[in-house]
Amino acid sequence: MQNPWLEIPLADYEGHMASEAVRQLEPLAVLFSEVLARRQPESVALLGVAGGNGLDRIDCGTTHRIVGVDCNPSYIDAVRERFSHLRGLELHCVDLAAARVELGPVELVHAALVFEHAGTKLCLENSLSLVAAGGAISIVLQLPATADANVGSSGIASIQKLKNHFHLIDPEWLCDEVARRGFELSFETCVALAGGKGLWMGIFLRL
Ligand SMILES: C[S@@+](CC[C@H](N)C(=O)[O-])C[C@H]1O[C@@H](n2cnc3c(N)ncnc32)[C@H](O)[C@@H]1O
Repeated sequence: MQNPWLEIPLADYEGHMASEAVRQLEPLAVLFSEVLARRQPESVALLGVAGGNGLDRIDCGTTHRIVGVDCNPSYIDAVRERFSHLRGLELHCVDLAAARVELGPVELVHAALVFEHAGTKLCLENSLSLVAAGGAISIVLQLPATADANVGSSGIASIQKLKNHFHLIDPEWLCDEVARRGFELSFETCVALAGGKGLWMGIFLRL
């Protein structure tokens, strides 16, 4: 079955995320800023980079290698065009749930709202395998909202295609899974969103 993200134009996705009912782009960028400030990585990978939300928060004086990964080639093209000025930007079109990533590891992997769509099997293995020795992974998960409000409350039609491919992930369960693979939770935080939703972020250090 084709990944439904391949059928969603970037303008629809960003319109949905910026809509009054959803308003998630800025909180996601703020969480990314927070982890950048805490870790000050020399290299970073954004998994599910979409249109590059948060890339403008990177300090190129500190972070010299910036890897963006997404399964949608048109999103990758848009990021390449929007951020052509960003030194050290490296973009890869990969389905993280279907193929093993063969990229050099980075000091910080940031995976925000990806596992809900790509699952926690190969995508989680890929994400953890990208973390360099002594590095970290920050994971952002959506917290439950009132029934049916998890995807699609902006009214943008194409977004409905994601509904049957979206699965909330329990942060506690994820913490156990990541810990079992040799990582330690060093920080966690929650942010309240419009419509009764929330975001959880955990930062895990490779032991
Ligand atoms: C909700 S958006 C991510 C939001 C973004 N990380 C942020 O902080 O604003 C999910 C992204 O993951 C990408 N994606 C979904 N499934 C994927 C997969 N199997 N492999 C790679 N990328 C995937 C989608 O194309 C989309 O760009």
